[in-house]
Amino acid sequence: MTKGIILSGGWGTRLRPLTCTIPKTLIPVMNKPVIERQILLLKSAGITEIILAVSVMGDILKNYFKDGEKLGVKIRYTDERKPLGTAGAIKLAEDFLKDDNFFMLNGDVILNFDFKEMIRAHEKLNGLGLVASKIVDDPSRYGVLMVDKNSNKIIEFLEKNEYRSQEGKKIAMPINAGVYLLESDIFNYIKPLKKISIEREVFPKLAEEEKLFHYPIPGIWKDIGKPEGLLEGNIQLMIDILKNSKEQKKNLINKSVDIEGKASIHPPVTLGKNVVIRKNCKIGPNVIIGDNVYLGANAEIKETLIYNDAYISEDVKLEKVIVSDNCLLHKGAQLIGNNQNLVILASYVEVSENVCLIAPSNHSLTVCHHEVVKNSIN
Ligand code: GTP
Repeated sequence: MTKGIILSGGWGTRLRPLTCTIPKTLIPVMNKPVIERQILLLKSAGITEIILAVSVMGDILKNYFKDGEKLGVKIRYTDERKPLGTAGAIKLAEDFLKDDNFFMLNGDVILNFDFKEMIRAHEKLNGLGLVASKIVDDPSRYGVLMVDKNSNKIIEFLEKNEYRSQEGKKIAMPINAGVYLLESDIFNYIKPLKKISIEREVFPKLAEEEKLFHYPIPGIWKDIGKPEGLLEGNIQLMIDILKNSKEQKKNLINKSVDIEGKASIHPPVTLGKNVVIRKNCKIGPNVIIGDNVYLGANAEIKETLIYNDAYISEDVKLEKVIVSDNCLLHKGAQLIGNNQNLVILASYVEVSENVCLIAPSNHSLTVCHHEVVKNSIN
C-alpha cells in the first residue's frame, strides 16, 4: 500500500515572526492548517498511513494531530533531533516506508488535485521517482526541471538559483512543486543520519541516471514559504473552493456570522464562525477571516488574512495585512502593505489608537508576538 510522508521540520525562517510560535505547516490556509489539507488530500486518495517528519517545534505538531484518529488516518512521527534536510528526514522513516512506494510532500504547499491520478501516471512511466511539476512565469525562485516533452523524463534537475534563462529573460518553466511519488529504492541513494537535501543531492543524480519523471499537476499550487505566497495561496484556494462549490457562491460566510445593518461585502470573502461585523464596514475583495473575530464600525479591509480571536476596533483600515490570533487593533489604526510587501502581526500584538503602519517598498513590516505598537511607522 502506498504510504505518505510529509516534511514538517524546517525552521520556516522566511515566515518569521509567524513561525516563532507555531511550525510553518500549522499556519492556517483558508482557516485550516496547510498540512491538514494535505493529509485530507492523501486520505481521499486512499492513503491513510502517514508519517510526519517533524523536528523544529515537533511537539506542537504531535499535540495537534496525535495519532490521526480525528482525521480518520494513522499518523506516526520521526524523531529528528535537529533538521536533517529533506533526504535525511525521510531516511529516518525507511523502515516504515520500505515495503512499497510512497508520497513525499513538502508540508508547506497549497494544492488541490487528485493524488490517485499521479499514482496512475507513475505506474505508466515506471521510474524510480515522479516529481509533481507546475509551470510558473518566473521560475527563478524555484527548483527548475529541464524535461523531455515526449517522455516526461527529467533531463536535468536544477535547484534554486541554478537556472539561468537566455539573456536573463523570464521564461515560463516547469518547477518542482514539492510533491513526489518515490519507490523505496530511493533509500539506496541516501546515507543515514546525515544532513542531506533530496533536491540538491539525490534528484540531480537520479535525473542523470534517467530514472526521474515529472507529472504536471492540475489546479492550484502555491508554497507558503514567504508572506506574499501565504496571502496569495489563501486567495487562490478561496477562489478554487468557490469555483467548485455546487451553489456557485460568491463568498463563504459561516451561518453564525452576525452583521449589523448593511455591510458592503466585495467578493471573494471568507468569514469564519462567530464573526461580528458592526455597521458600515467594507470588506473585500480577497479577505479571509477566521473564527471569533470582531470588526468595529466603519472598518475597511482588503486583501487581508485575519486569524482567530482578533478584535478590530472601529475605523480601522487594513490592506495587504496578515493579522495572527488574538491581536487587538485600537480605533483608527491603519495598516497598509506595499505591493509584495505586507504588514504582518504575529499573535497577541496590540496596535494603539490611530497608529499607522505602512510597509516599505523593499520588505514586509513585521511585528513580533505580544508587542504593543504605540508609534506609527511609515
Ligand atoms: P525557510 O527557513 O524559510 O527556508 O523554511 P523551511 O526551513 O521550512 O525550509 P523549506 O521551505 O525549504 O522547507 C520545505 C518543507 O520541508 C517544509 O515543510 C519544511 O518544514 C520541511 N523541511 C525543511 N527542512 C527540513 C528538515 O531538515 N527536516 C524536516 N523533517 N523537514 C524539513
